[in-house]
Amino acid sequence: MSQYKTPLRYPGGKQRLWQFIHEILTANDLVAADYVEPFAGGAGVAMELLLRGRVRRVHLNDSCVGVYAFWHSLLNEPERFCRAVSRASLNIETWRHQQEIFRNRVSADRFDLGFAMFYLNRCNRSGILNGGVIGGLDQTGEWKMDARFARNELISRIEAIAARKSDIKIRNWDAERFITQYVPRLPEKTLVYCDPPYFRKADRLYPNHYKPEDHQRIAEIIQGNIEHHWIVSYDSCIEIQAFYEGRTSFEYLLQYNAAKAYKGAELFIFSDQTRVPSRSSLRTIDTALVASGF
Ligand SMILES: C[S@@+](CC[C@H](N)C(=O)[O-])C[C@H]1O[C@@H](n2cnc3c(N)ncnc32)[C@H](O)[C@@H]1O
Repeated sequence: MSQYKTPLRYPGGKQRLWQFIHEILTANDLVAADYVEPFAGGAGVAMELLLRGRVRRVHLNDSCVGVYAFWHSLLNEPERFCRAVSRASLNIETWRHQQEIFRNRVSADRFDLGFAMFYLNRCNRSGILNGGVIGGLDQTGEWKMDARFARNELISRIEAIAARKSDIKIRNWDAERFITQYVPRLPEKTLVYCDPPYFRKADRLYPNHYKPEDHQRIAEIIQGNIEHHWIVSYDSCIEIQAFYEGRTSFEYLLQYNAAKAYKGAELFIFSDQTRVPSRSSLRTIDTALVASGF
């Protein structure tokens, strides 16, 4: 398993970029500040920064009820969650049961839904919740469904995060409401990192995604409402570049690993008052990305 701190494997997860975000915090005198993810998902960067002592508090939000149920259950019932991880049967019958809970997520019990989300995230290919199980239903693939379910390591991650419960705030709002109603109440020293669903092919990756007009609207809301330092990341495409025209941005190449590895360009966009680390440090991060094998 990787050395990262989030228990989730998230399609498009950004944990490998935590050092870059830390450079931005440093360049903008925001070390030990508050840190926000309106589209938290696996909250990979947030967990790295918090558990490594680089920010003092994290504010997470995700409109997906399964993602929220996961974080809520982990933070509020960590012992029960760890017991469930330790006892979970890794077989197709249980996988189908967890899939059923996730399918009926609107009416599901919150703990059961949080665990189902986690189970599917760890047992499905690339962590895609609506995707297929690793190894296939007949479990004849090279990798089986337990390939990413290292129980002791996952329990350690859950315990480490739960120990910081008082520094982790979590909401289940639409990002628009979160940005306009929650973020303005945060201290001046705050960094907001928005990682919306990808512009292309997001319907394959997440239960909750955006249409092109939603991407445009959230771009207007981010640029028109957030007075703190902010960063946005996206799969690079001309539509997104147009929505953020005039802002500082840069693009880098990286390897994704959703379903099968392929290369794509990722776009980072910065608010006007945010100082961006020098080109040389950006190159260092590119190299680290390639070295991590994604
Ligand atoms: C690209 S993923 C975030 C990945 C995250 N940065 C990580 O490292 O794990 C986008 C997330 O946005 C969430 N999302 C989609 N539409 C949303 C909305 N309207 N409001 C809030 N969250 C939303 C999805 O559920 C998904 O978890």
